Amino acid sequence: MLVFRTATALKKQLLLQKKTVGLVPTMGALHAGHVSLVEQACKENDLVIVSIYVNPTQFNVLEDLENYPRNLDDDQKLLQPFSKKIFLYVPENEDLYPNGVVSKTYDFGSLAMYMEGLSRPGHYNGVATIVEALLKNTSPARAYFGEKDFQQLQIIRALNTRLHLGVEIIECPLIREKNGLAMSSRNQLLPPHQREAASVIYKSLEVILQKANTWSLHEMKSFFVSEIEGLEGFRVDYFAIASPSDLIPVEQLKPNQVYRVFVAVYVGKTRLIDTVELKRI
Ligand code: PAJ
Repeated sequence: MLVFRTATALKKQLLLQKKTVGLVPTMGALHAGHVSLVEQACKENDLVIVSIYVNPTQFNVLEDLENYPRNLDDDQKLLQPFSKKIFLYVPENEDLYPNGVVSKTYDFGSLAMYMEGLSRPGHYNGVATIVEALLKNTSPARAYFGEKDFQQLQIIRALNTRLHLGVEIIECPLIREKNGLAMSSRNQLLPPHQREAASVIYKSLEVILQKANTWSLHEMKSFFVSEIEGLEGFRVDYFAIASPSDLIPVEQLKPNQVYRVFVAVYVGKTRLIDTVELKRI
């Protein structure tokens, strides 16, 4: 597997290849969710760039950045089955932030105002800054992002359109652990008993989906909060149901509508997110 530390070296190789390029941006600590993106990208492109970079500007809490799991050797092992098709791009700060590690300021309107945007001030400016840099450094035909971070996905779509980057943004389905917990690099930070107990998040969402046509939004939220906060060390950061296009949380559910449920839950100090589509008939 070829590993590149600089965009200059990467671009040189890309020019020699003349192949269709797919990009899978990640922050490493890879799991089967990431691998599903890589797998899809490998099917749809001649060459796939997987970037691994823990982007400081998207962390609004220093402790979270410091605790973020990092294990490049394990990551490379997991990518080994795709080694013939992928370039691994593992840049240092200077390569992506030549003028200092600060984010640009974007205005994504309602897309960045609620859920993660509200709970993590500055987070999406950091994400957009790094994704803009990655897309410009690699000029892919397609870039792959997970439904798991649905709000991020919509913001990246807006970024791509606004800056006329011309990249096809591909949404990949959310991959879960056997117990239903959404796969996340942060799951590694949980002790085994909490990792098992955290399955309550998806189990509660499943109940809500079963009641999609009968419960009010208020009933859904109360149910979710009581299920989660009934467990020691678990706390709901937010529960929101929003329109998938503008990501503005609604107050009431109307018939014949497709919504998206967004939740963030603290398990001890670790913050987990999940999302599901909710259809009201
Ligand atoms: P990271 O959390 O490493 O995720 C990288 C990509 O993998 C994202 O597109 C994310 O949505 C996707 N992903 C994560 N868990 C997933 C799961 N369980 N199922 C499917 N896809 C999953 O998201 C980021 O990194 C960063 O914000 C980044 C875009 C790399 C910018 O720094």
